[in-house]
Amino acid sequence: MHEVTFVKRVVPFGKPILGEAEQQAVLEVLGGPVLVHGPRVKQFEADFAAWTQSPHALAVGSCTAGLHLFWFDLEIGPGDEVIVPAQTHSATAHAVEYTGASCVFVDCEQSTGNIDVDALAAAVTPRTRGISLVHFLGLPADMDGINAVAKKHCLPVLEDCALSIGATYKGVHTGLLGDAGAFSFYPVKHMTTAEGGMFITQYEDLAARITKKRAFGVDRVVGERSVPGVYDVTMLGYNYRMNEIEAAIGIEQLKRMDGFLARRRENFAALSAGLAELPELTVLASGGDDEIKGSHYCLSVVLRESLRPLRFELVKALNALGVGTSVYYPRPVPHMSYYRNKYGHEEGSFPNAAAISYGSIALPVGPHLDLDDMAYMVDAMKQALSEVQ
Ligand SMILES: Cc1ncc(COP(=O)(O)O)c(C=O)c1O
Repeated sequence: MHEVTFVKRVVPFGKPILGEAEQQAVLEVLGGPVLVHGPRVKQFEADFAAWTQSPHALAVGSCTAGLHLFWFDLEIGPGDEVIVPAQTHSATAHAVEYTGASCVFVDCEQSTGNIDVDALAAAVTPRTRGISLVHFLGLPADMDGINAVAKKHCLPVLEDCALSIGATYKGVHTGLLGDAGAFSFYPVKHMTTAEGGMFITQYEDLAARITKKRAFGVDRVVGERSVPGVYDVTMLGYNYRMNEIEAAIGIEQLKRMDGFLARRRENFAALSAGLAELPELTVLASGGDDEIKGSHYCLSVVLRESLRPLRFELVKALNALGVGTSVYYPRPVPHMSYYRNKYGHEEGSFPNAAAISYGSIALPVGPHLDLDDMAYMVDAMKQALSEVQ
């Protein structure tokens, strides 16, 4: 066994970077009378639209809310099917389940974690009403392939962009490649508003309906009413709004995004190069070129098959060395108890998603870390591997 010959560090998996600008922005909101329906949400939407070059950006309470609104707007329900990636967060699937439609799960590619287009094409039935996908860990999915299937069957495409802010495919920001996309600003994401999300789309009519459906289906929001308190409800809607405090944080966070992304890219490249020499593991593809530009949410290593039973020992050894880890995602969604009980998928199903869920460890590359942290993680991984083997 190697001895640790380096000074122990603490390398947290995720940590929001919030400073004086965010604090000041929040205090300004709290010092005034407007907590919702104010100028900051509008400003944040305009800034996000400009940053992603999206014609429409609508702030919502969470990424999950944005995903749900899309399927809700399609008026799908029992008897309908939506294609859902097996390897994603449960939110991608829940957004479909809320409507009463059924999820038809599709396996991912093992090298990327993104939906397998051939398997997707094979899963379409006469009941299919839409396709959802995730840009896994910020790597854009094969959108040409997915859109070809969608076009052939006239199906709408929803992108789960929770981890793909800053990720582009052939120069177009994720979320604008299908019909719509939803982003997450949960604390450990690329940027945060505490809770929060953004829905983007190229389509004006869709944006107009989602604007109403995120706020009870009212015809005029506060500020648009000629007589205070007087409005009509023209459709069913939810209360999925973002508030002014969240938007104020978001405006400041977005100003830092280019810097955040540059640091992630640099960290990812260094960690990936350092781990490449280790035969025990494979680094999941991340999209480093201009054609398919990933947003480097984290670096996920898939362990050699013989090492997979030792994964949690390895995690413990890394954690003991101060390295924060996570797993994306701890089970393929169809293996989660709720979905398994409902749809009855076998343990051996979705083998590629399973290899990632049950055989990978996610390491941090966020902007709270620097190149010394990356070098430390490479040493810590070598040390941890030697301890468990
Ligand atoms: C791929 C994916 N989609 C959706 C979500 C849910 O995001 P939110 O908490 O903003 O609803 C997450 C959260 O981790 C996620 O990883």
